[in-house]
Amino acid sequence: MTDTLRIGCAVDAFALDDPAYRDAIARLFTVVTAENAMKFLLLRPDRDTYDFANADRIMEFAEAEGKAVRGHTLAWHSQLSEWVADAPAEERAGILRDHIDTVVGRYRGRIEQWDVVNEALDDDAQPRESPWFEAMGIDYIADAFRWAHEADPSARLFLNDYNVEDLCPKSDAYYELAKQLLANGVPLHGFGIQGHRIVGDPPTSMRENLQRFADLGLEVALTEVDVRMPVTEVEHASDVQLAAQAADYRTMIEAARAVPACTSFVLWGLSDAHSWIPETFAGFGAAHVFDEALRPKPAFEAVFSDTVGPSYAKEPVLR
Ligand code: G3I
Repeated sequence: MTDTLRIGCAVDAFALDDPAYRDAIARLFTVVTAENAMKFLLLRPDRDTYDFANADRIMEFAEAEGKAVRGHTLAWHSQLSEWVADAPAEERAGILRDHIDTVVGRYRGRIEQWDVVNEALDDDAQPRESPWFEAMGIDYIADAFRWAHEADPSARLFLNDYNVEDLCPKSDAYYELAKQLLANGVPLHGFGIQGHRIVGDPPTSMRENLQRFADLGLEVALTEVDVRMPVTEVEHASDVQLAAQAADYRTMIEAARAVPACTSFVLWGLSDAHSWIPETFAGFGAAHVFDEALRPKPAFEAVFSDTVGPSYAKEPVLR
């Protein structure tokens, strides 16, 4: 069996200090992305400062371990420094261009894929309000891709969003946007589907959805996969929930494997011990493939059972 799908994980720069975490990421994955360290707010605490310390740590780790890197993310409405919204609108194109030139330029030739514009559409599939959209209109998307391509002609440049796993109005809107960008000669190379799901509600048309973007000549990727479930303080995930979660992970990875243009399947976090979910969705958790004690869950088996290649160690115990 040939398997071109690379399995990846979002990495927390601080957690890399934990040898067990570092070793698990190194053993299990072939691609990594920065969960937060390459976002605008983290890189640009103020207008005159670029702080690359944590982004560099992730790059150095990835390069030392021979991992590909997905860069995340250049133009996003969230985790954006307040000084951007405070800057006069007519200065914001210059701010975004300088940011892209500097960040993409710093890692030129070293980051394989960049999420250039993240979450460009809102839940009604309309252009999302952001300081970039407010100042530059919808053209900020094309401009961001052109600037990123100039800064690193070898990087594969992606749109990326959530709630676009299936054929649906929001993914339809992305399909039209992608066609339009390509028709205008914009250097768009990929479409990233984040893949944040709730247990028991797996995508039903993900393969068809991935395939239609692939048919435009784009690369596609699952970029931020997790499957959250309702949990309480006293009652953790039940065996039934864990089995349902594994089935949902399996549904997604099988869809990804069925589309040759799908190159990566990236988990949004390694374990339930460090997760963005409880802080964001009260009463939900247990979304990842390892539990809080770093024991593999059925979802681990679902993701890794059909994965081939010498870089995948199958022994699942982390500690
Ligand atoms: O850095 C501060 C730290 O100084 C402070 O002590 C601490 C206190 O809570 O907060 C830290 O900031 C947190 C930051 O992550 C870095 O850890 C923020 O509170 C927290 O809100 C932030 O959450 C991140 C979230 O994006 C922000 O929207 C999550 O870790 C990250 O997993 C999540 O990732 C996003 C993707 O980038 C895009 N797609 C959706 C996905 C989930 O929201």
